[in-house]
Amino acid sequence: MAKLGIHDLAVRYGKLTAISDLSFTVAEGERLFISGPNGAGKSSLLGAISGAVRAAHGRIEMDGDILSGLGPERIARRGLSMVPEGRRIFGGLTVRENLMVGTGIRRDRAAVADDLETAFTAFPILRDRANAPAGALSGGQQQMLAIARALMTNPKVMLVDEPSLGLAPKVVDEVYDRLCSLQALRGLTLVIVEQSSTRAARVGGRMILMRGGRIVADGDAAGFAAADLLSEAYFGDPA
Ligand SMILES: Nc1ncnc2c1ncn2[C@@H]1O[C@H](COP(=O)(O)OP(=O)(O)O)[C@@H](O)[C@H]1O
Ligand SMILES: [Mg+2]
Repeated sequence: MAKLGIHDLAVRYGKLTAISDLSFTVAEGERLFISGPNGAGKSSLLGAISGAVRAAHGRIEMDGDILSGLGPERIARRGLSMVPEGRRIFGGLTVRENLMVGTGIRRDRAAVADDLETAFTAFPILRDRANAPAGALSGGQQQMLAIARALMTNPKVMLVDEPSLGLAPKVVDEVYDRLCSLQALRGLTLVIVEQSSTRAARVGGRMILMRGGRIVADGDAAGFAAADLLSEAYFGDPA
């Protein structure tokens, strides 16, 4: 059974259609990259799945549970969390406070302490800087913090919007190393927005290419890097 199912999803902002009739499924434990040019609707898609953006129509399911129509907190409680574009770290709060922000929704308070410990073990730099203001961290460390914070709600499915944005290639390597080892450790289902198909191919996984709010290709990321499909998606239909 597919972990995540998106059926005929549409997102509109006033008259602008950001996503039209989009459907795909993500298998349990799969790593799926979403790529495509700016304005393709990638963030709108993640927003609609996580409940941050209201869908005009469509159905989103996780393990047969209908998520569409639920708010972000209830969706997080079902086990789906998002690492937003731009990280959305609270710079004036400490690293520990940032990690605790999302845990208010959890009823298993004892386990929260364990998960904080697990986050610190997975990201030793965050333990070292636990009492420092998050705004003092480097860009890469802030991305790690954003990922660690999303893990604090103990998700089964994690959506990550452009984790490599604004980071040096070596730092991006570290971010993906960490994401992949967390995925292996926890059996996470991962959906990652990544502009660079070369990067997606190197990390490995399936890739969906979006353009103009629609899916224009879906397959193994490694097969995309060299394919004409990419320029087609970016620059328009081939002559
Ligand atoms: N909050 C918003 N209000 C109005 N238009 C928006 C909003 N968010 C995104 N859009 C528009 O929707 C389209 C898709 O945007 P987005 O989902 O952010 O694409 P991507 O993440 O692929 O760059 C773009 O045309 C963008 O300008
Ligand atoms: Mg975006």
